[in-house]
Amino acid sequence: MADIEVRFRPVVEADLAMFRRFAVEPGLIGLDWVGYKDPGAVSRRFATDSYLSAEDGRLMVEAGPDFDAAGLVSWRVVGYGVAKGWEIGIALLPEWRGRGIGWRAQAMLCDYLFEHTPAQRIQAGTHPENLAEQRSLEKAGFRLEGVIRAAEWRAGRWRDGHLYSRLRDDPSPL
Ligand SMILES: CC(C)(COP(=O)(O)OP(=O)(O)OC[C@H]1O[C@@H](n2cnc3c(N)ncnc32)[C@H](O)[C@@H]1OP(=O)(O)O)[C@@H](O)C(=O)NCCC(=O)NCCS
Repeated sequence: MADIEVRFRPVVEADLAMFRRFAVEPGLIGLDWVGYKDPGAVSRRFATDSYLSAEDGRLMVEAGPDFDAAGLVSWRVVGYGVAKGWEIGIALLPEWRGRGIGWRAQAMLCDYLFEHTPAQRIQAGTHPENLAEQRSLEKAGFRLEGVIRAAEWRAGRWRDGHLYSRLRDDPSPL
């Protein structure tokens, strides 16, 4: 089977409905569901900077053959002092998962951020039980750095996280 085509585009107003769904539909976003979030925050943020600031951003992931909006990728600045890097995230709608889009989109996002910013390091955290994201990150050129103990409060208790990174000189799989 041919690889599914994946591309990015900036967020437009019509995408805000998807973001609101992620904010109020329990579990739609996957294991990152941490309770209801204000759906009104979505339009307020869009009105501020269209989800593209110097500190963080979102792009829509479109997937072929018709380039429907399959989900979003995100990034935010992390690091200390002048050593600024990025932490990335991704959420695909359930009907687009498991089709080779997630690892490609995350590899593409790294290439994009390394091209347009001088960052040396991009990191991504995931959950011990999120096998799809762990494998996606590995396929996108990330390496596991270790277990972050009690990294998040989720589903009623403190839970560990897995931290991955891709450095500027690590090879891109694309
Ligand atoms: C996690 C997510 C981004 C992965 O993207 P995806 O498009 O579903 O995954 P891909 O099709 O690119 O698959 C990448 C690899 O993971 C494997 N994989 C996919 N789904 C899997 C699953 N449910 N269990 C185990 N492995 C899985 C694939 O087989 C593939 O590995 P392979 O080539 O060795 O066979 C996507 O499923 C998603 O958006 N999930 C909900 C939100 C989420 O969990 N985001 C990350 C939060 S940390």
